[in-house]
Amino acid sequence: MKKNVFHLKTKQLVEIAQSLKLKVETGLREEGAEVQCIPTYINPKTSGINGQATVLDLGGTNYRVAVVDFENGEPTIHPENGWKKDLSVMKTPGFTEEDLFKEQADPIGEIKRTKENPIGYCFSYPAESMLNGDAKLLRWTKGVDIKEMIGKPVGQPLVDYLNKRNEVKFTGIKVINDTVASLFAGLTESNYDAYIGLIVGTGTNMATFIKSENIKKLNPDYKEGGLIPVNLESGNFNPPHLTVVDENVDARSDAKGAQRFEKAVSGMYLGEILKAVFPCDEFEERFDAQKLTSIMNYPDIHKKKYVKVAAQIYERSAKLVAASLAGLALVLVENDPSIKRIKLVAEGSLFWSEYRKGKNYKNIVMAELQDLLDEMGLKDVHVYVSKMDNANLIGSAIAALS
Ligand code: BGC
Repeated sequence: MKKNVFHLKTKQLVEIAQSLKLKVETGLREEGAEVQCIPTYINPKTSGINGQATVLDLGGTNYRVAVVDFENGEPTIHPENGWKKDLSVMKTPGFTEEDLFKEQADPIGEIKRTKENPIGYCFSYPAESMLNGDAKLLRWTKGVDIKEMIGKPVGQPLVDYLNKRNEVKFTGIKVINDTVASLFAGLTESNYDAYIGLIVGTGTNMATFIKSENIKKLNPDYKEGGLIPVNLESGNFNPPHLTVVDENVDARSDAKGAQRFEKAVSGMYLGEILKAVFPCDEFEERFDAQKLTSIMNYPDIHKKKYVKVAAQIYERSAKLVAASLAGLALVLVENDPSIKRIKLVAEGSLFWSEYRKGKNYKNIVMAELQDLLDEMGLKDVHVYVSKMDNANLIGSAIAALS
């Protein structure tokens, strides 16, 4: 392949940013939009957090459990980075809700808990937040498909299951998306005008705070006004300027037609894109972003054509993320023109991945983002990115204790 079909010109990236902006605005007005914009009915405390929570973090591949103690706003996590286990088994056909609860319960038994506490559940799939802090599963993504769980709350049944089996009970549960957990964790650093939570790992998505008056579809029974955390579910954005290769990846993937942005950007699909470029070649079945970056980082032991195309796919992914961030910045600034300093809490192995022979992913995103903001007349808006250790665990504990 001579021409880089994955190259996106600045003009195209601006169009992608503008398209995301319009779709976010539609999502804030209407139910069931492409970019769903799901309000989270939890108002996070920003100061005076005290107490203990058990946090469960169910992501794309891994599951983590920890106990988080907040004393005067300072979190301590036990064990240090949580108790981690691979849960890719949940992608196996025939895997049930009961199987999932059992897998989730096992490591909880390993953790020492002496007093009853609430659960903060970081659940990294599209789920509609309920007024009681639980959330109903809307659909699965990232290759999971446990059908009987769709449309039902994900929190309370898990608490019931755990309370039947644990002597020290759980007192309640709050369910939040991983992007919202990052957003909440970011609040521990004040003095920014706006906040964005971003995940670029197995899957991808963004969350931010939106003023209640700008969310037309907000549940009228929710009495808290002010800034509402919104899980955008931006992985389902269908951006302009995707390629015929992306069509092929989608046609062969789970949930056809859905998660088109995610399928062009996130770790679970980048390898699939490379495979689709070379349809006659043989590749390993499981081919994730880590393998893609290892091709780029060890060019001497890989075919030249793969090394070249892998870098193009990696670069396009980062630029698409930059365009989506620029589109979200447009929404935020239009709602509040005084916004100048935006804090971005970014999580995910792909976002923080290294490219030894070129620019790291994060650097491509941040450079392109500033160029796009300049291009769109937002020269004086700056986005400050940071990596927070255990953002999901801390954010979920904040949710449980708010
Ligand atoms: C899910 C999101 C999640 C993202 C990152 C996507 O597949 O739909 O809810 O935030 O992955 O984990």
